[in-house]
Amino acid sequence: MRIGVLTAGGDCPGLNAVIRSIVHRAVVDRGDQVIGFEDGFKGLLDGRYRELDINAVSGILARGGTILGSARLERHRLREACDNAEQLRQELGLDALIPIGGEGTLTAARMLSDAGLPVVGVPKTIDNDISATDRTFGFDTAVGVATEAIDRLKTTAESHQRIMVVEVMGRNAGWIALESGMAGGAHGICIPERPFRVDGLCKMVEERFARGKKFAVICVAEGAAPAEGEMPYRKGEIDQYGHERFTGIGNQLAVELERRLGYEARPVILGHVQRGGTPTAYDRVLATRFGWHAVEAAHRGEFGMMTALSGTDIVMAPLFDATAVLKTVPQQRMDETEAVF
Ligand code: F6P
Repeated sequence: MRIGVLTAGGDCPGLNAVIRSIVHRAVVDRGDQVIGFEDGFKGLLDGRYRELDINAVSGILARGGTILGSARLERHRLREACDNAEQLRQELGLDALIPIGGEGTLTAARMLSDAGLPVVGVPKTIDNDISATDRTFGFDTAVGVATEAIDRLKTTAESHQRIMVVEVMGRNAGWIALESGMAGGAHGICIPERPFRVDGLCKMVEERFARGKKFAVICVAEGAAPAEGEMPYRKGEIDQYGHERFTGIGNQLAVELERRLGYEARPVILGHVQRGGTPTAYDRVLATRFGWHAVEAAHRGEFGMMTALSGTDIVMAPLFDATAVLKTVPQQRMDETEAVF
């Protein structure tokens, strides 16, 4: 069998672990051929690929990023790929294509699958917002980075009697903010799923200062926004991929809290630090299991599906289920901590 693999969309710790696992299972165990496309779907369309053997994936398990490179694809190029799906498949001699990616990539994968390509998806994103899987790899690593940041910010906040506003990733879903905020004991958590109230945050800070705890750490997801009329708020522009270019809610909130409360406030934007570097053990294992199961699904001819975690088992889920709606933080999870404002 000749299997193509690509990584698309934003990178995430654990991508290399999946690539390595696919090569081990397919090439070493099953005698398949694996080719890796460069820079996501762009490499597929331009015929830029290289053969991946056991040496090509040696030493990459613990490495962040992706050895194949990653990129987002413009819509018109995706349509072009769908229109020429069968021709592409024949030219490249593909028996299966394994795209590893987040919501955008899996949507593109579903479209290519509908157009006739034999696709088995592997979900990835630090945001953990893909439906039909309990977890995506990369999330655990990102939460670990953000939790460490909150721990560190607490000591400097306390020394200077300041409010630290730490902004973490999460455009539409607040999973990273919620879990790192809970793990780090942030005093306030703001997520996209619930427009936050500045009054509530101010009351919480005042109450802390009044009982002698003269500092606070607030963890805010980049996509969180204040409730209507709560504070001056600048929305970002929409880019060519349909994503909002955020203007920094962390900065805006820090300015507003300082203005209202009179205590010093500092913003800290963690940004892509959360996506870089070595994956945690949890993410390496999940990524490795996804890779193994993707190869098995390809051999069974289970196309139009993706690997998914269900409890502790790896199962196959329709690409459609994964991309129809985003998995956002449910009310119950917000209720489990008093810190969500
Ligand atoms: O989807 C993953 C993610 O890291 C989001 O959390 C973030 O909003 C976005 O990608 C950033 O994208 P880019 O790398 O294009 O700035």
